[in-house]
Amino acid sequence: MKRLLVTGGAGFIGANFCHYWCSTHPLDRVVVLDALTYAGNLASIAPLIDSGKLRFERGDIGERSRVAALITEEAIDTVVNFAAESHVDRSLEDPATFLRTNVLGTQALLDAARGAWGADAGRRGCRFHHVSTDEVYGSLGPGAAAFTESTPYAPNSPYAASKAAADHLVRAYSHSFGLPCSISNCSNNYGPYQFPEKLLPLCILNILEGRPLPIYGDGQQIRDWLHVSDHCRALELILAQPAASGTWNVGGSTQEPNLTVVGMVCDLVDRAFAAERSLAARFPSCPAAGGRASRTLIRHVQDRPGHDRRYAVDSTRIRERLGFAIGTPLAPGLEDTVRWYLGNEGWWRSVVSGDYRQWYARQYAGKVGA
Ligand code: NAD
Ligand code: TYD
Repeated sequence: MKRLLVTGGAGFIGANFCHYWCSTHPLDRVVVLDALTYAGNLASIAPLIDSGKLRFERGDIGERSRVAALITEEAIDTVVNFAAESHVDRSLEDPATFLRTNVLGTQALLDAARGAWGADAGRRGCRFHHVSTDEVYGSLGPGAAAFTESTPYAPNSPYAASKAAADHLVRAYSHSFGLPCSISNCSNNYGPYQFPEKLLPLCILNILEGRPLPIYGDGQQIRDWLHVSDHCRALELILAQPAASGTWNVGGSTQEPNLTVVGMVCDLVDRAFAAERSLAARFPSCPAAGGRASRTLIRHVQDRPGHDRRYAVDSTRIRERLGFAIGTPLAPGLEDTVRWYLGNEGWWRSVVSGDYRQWYARQYAGKVGA
């Protein structure tokens, strides 16, 4: 039986992880620590809190002594660190916030775990797992081999640089202080509970509300899409290994250009409207409500500065050593995701606050006339 501290558990991947873990490991203790920034939503884990399946604490990973006290009070033996500022576009506007949470916050969390667990953390089976990204490896050319665990770090955005710095700190705490740590570097996730600033939920909601779909540049940038449920299963496999197992790359083995993926989402929405007549009444501004193709909303807009052209993750290590396999390929995964947003209008209306609407308007006004 484990006693987990899940930081950032009210965010997209953290919330999916909590749902997954509470249903597959019902005897484990799960405590969520989350600062509830704009990206954190209690609604995503409310059923777990209400049914007593996890304890929620609002707090910042940077509050070292408070976090250490929580680890001691709850006899936590496993920290899974999802907490982060996670959106590349926001990191271009305000890098300092990313350094504060992703670098200094991670360092404070490492210190808290080290202080609470003491020198024999490894012997007592304690474990600090840090959730990171493939973006630390930089951008790949068209024919270049996918990122492996030994690809040198070459982060290009302030977000990627902050995650790279955090990874280095995790490694250093393991090496210098013997803190039992592991890291996973994962590709682009998609699925339920993703905050609408990210490409796929942004497109789904814009289609439903008849807004333009802003495609940066030529839309030929390639991402390695991974359904979040597969990420959760990968983390479960990794957490079953000793911390000394080190670094694990996790990819979706699905490299598609943004324009292709957005086109697939448009077609899925059109098909859903054709199959279910009530959707037209619920979303009258959606092109599909008037029999038009959602693809007509696609607009090519000014590219993101320094936009990474291609990510691809080589998952050989986790596949061969831990038997990891993709359970939800892209096409059914996107269908499931579109269906989830159609069925959870209350969730996305509640997370899209006035602040987000204002940010969206600033971010996209010059580009698509948002
Ligand atoms: P998210 O932005 O949806 O959620 C982040 C969560 O962290 C939010 O609940 C937020 O309130 C919380 N948080 C932020 N600052 C905090 C702080 N100082 N203290 C405590 N909580 C804080 O992010 P996500 O997409 O769920 O990503 C989770 C992790 O996975 C991140 O570390 C991210 O770098 C990594 N990752 C994400 C992806 C992806 O495609 N989304 C891919 C690979 C890796
Ligand atoms: P995003 O979801 O922000 O994830 P990341 O930048 O971490 O990969 O973006 C995914 C891809 O979609 C990326 O190549 C940028 C592109 N993109 C757009 O073309 N338009 C948008 O409005 C957004 C948010 C992203």
